[in-house]
Amino acid sequence: MEGLLSGSAGAEAVLAEIRALREADLPTHGGTLFAYVYDPAVPGLDDLTSAAHALAAHVNGLDPTAFPSLLTMENALVGAAARLLGGTVEGGPGDTAGSVTSGGTESLILAVKAARDARPEVERPRLVMPASAHAAFAKAGHYLGVALDIVPVDPAALTPEPEAMIAAMGPNTVLAVVSAPSYAHGVVDPVAPVAAAASARGIRCHVDACFGGWVLPYLRRLGRDVPAFDLSVPGVTSISVDLHKYAYAPKGVSVLLHRNAALRMPQYFGWADWPGYTMVNPVISSTRSGGPIAAAYAALRYLGDDGYLALARTTAAAVDGLAAIVAAQDGLRLLADPASTVVVFTSDDPELDVFVLADELAARGWHTQPQMTHGGIPASIHLSVAAAVAPRVGDFAGVLADAVAAARAAGPATVPTEVAAMAASLPPEALTTEMVAGLAQGLGLGGDDPHPRMAPVNAILNLAPPALRERLLIEFLSLLQRSS
Ligand SMILES: Cc1ncc(COP(=O)(O)O)c(C=O)c1O
Repeated sequence: MEGLLSGSAGAEAVLAEIRALREADLPTHGGTLFAYVYDPAVPGLDDLTSAAHALAAHVNGLDPTAFPSLLTMENALVGAAARLLGGTVEGGPGDTAGSVTSGGTESLILAVKAARDARPEVERPRLVMPASAHAAFAKAGHYLGVALDIVPVDPAALTPEPEAMIAAMGPNTVLAVVSAPSYAHGVVDPVAPVAAAASARGIRCHVDACFGGWVLPYLRRLGRDVPAFDLSVPGVTSISVDLHKYAYAPKGVSVLLHRNAALRMPQYFGWADWPGYTMVNPVISSTRSGGPIAAAYAALRYLGDDGYLALARTTAAAVDGLAAIVAAQDGLRLLADPASTVVVFTSDDPELDVFVLADELAARGWHTQPQMTHGGIPASIHLSVAAAVAPRVGDFAGVLADAVAAARAAGPATVPTEVAAMAASLPPEALTTEMVAGLAQGLGLGGDDPHPRMAPVNAILNLAPPALRERLLIEFLSLLQRSS
């Protein structure tokens, strides 16, 4: 047999192989990767969470009566999230109820499922969300047959008008969604008026605090202006917070809270009509590893309230430092008030292309996240900031100035006329695998260099309407995902 099953290997050799593969990855630690990872740079935390993960990796969350350790840890995580996010934990039936899920997307899908299944009389359920809401709501709508009513966000405020959210609520609306904060811009939506209006109409209201739910309460304690966004706000029926973001747990863990157990009930799925065990699941997966749950439990115990407060202080200082550096840079403009842990900026100089700038930063070891033009909001560079950045903020000033100079010298990325015409007009269904393979090859994607310059690619994607961009990237991902 060839490939992975070609013959057994010693443990050291196997680990050496994986270490070698990992060398191509972006750096998860060290404060120079501003998306995907959240590094608090706390000594001992990684070792502890890895050990905790290993202790529970083979434990199966499928049946908490078989593995009560997981139930205890899950309940503790839900309780911690409830205490942090305005819930109640007094042992009563009206208390906050929740579940541990595998991540933000799963939490959001389940919030939508619970809202949909609570209203079985609505034949064509819909949800109201701002254009800035996370893409996972679109995924939830797609999976669950819930249509989206998308409310535009003001290009300056980057939040929706509450009146527009309220006007979009109709008889088939089962859920209204707001973010605290949004991922793309780190701004908190008008939670209170939307939740109040939803409640008055018998509509559930979910607050997506997946990104910043664990850090906003601490930022408020540090004196930052954080509006009420959690279960303390009347009308909020559920809220999600990812522990693998600002609770600094390893990947695979989020919490979905409902105001009470009755609201959580339609989230469950049960099936007894087959010859095997009766399957009763609170979340999408049935078999679930205890690893991420134990690791998150360990992170919370190790860092504690004081630890999170201290990390929030360090992170806020890093955000302020980065924002000041960006604001001082000629040609760049902060797109949003850096009130949470996102620094997002655009370019006002036609000679300074943000996609080229992102490449120049990457060439200097600083990995940011380019964001496309959308709904009147210009293309931008996103930085999700965590505490590990703090000691590197001083370096960023020089690096940014240098990268800006190089990006200006290089000039904006250009798109060949015929490709631009195609990007602007090709119907997504006309795109073929061969066309994408040819384009990818021409752009140097999927070759030996795992991190090629992306500005020419981003320039094309930025011209493509969202539906074509989705198709292009799905085809490209499918090309990458081939058996080996
Ligand atoms: C606001 C928000 N919601 C949901 C998600 C989805 O989380 P995940 O990637 O864990 O599925 C994210 C991820 O960045 C997010 O920022």
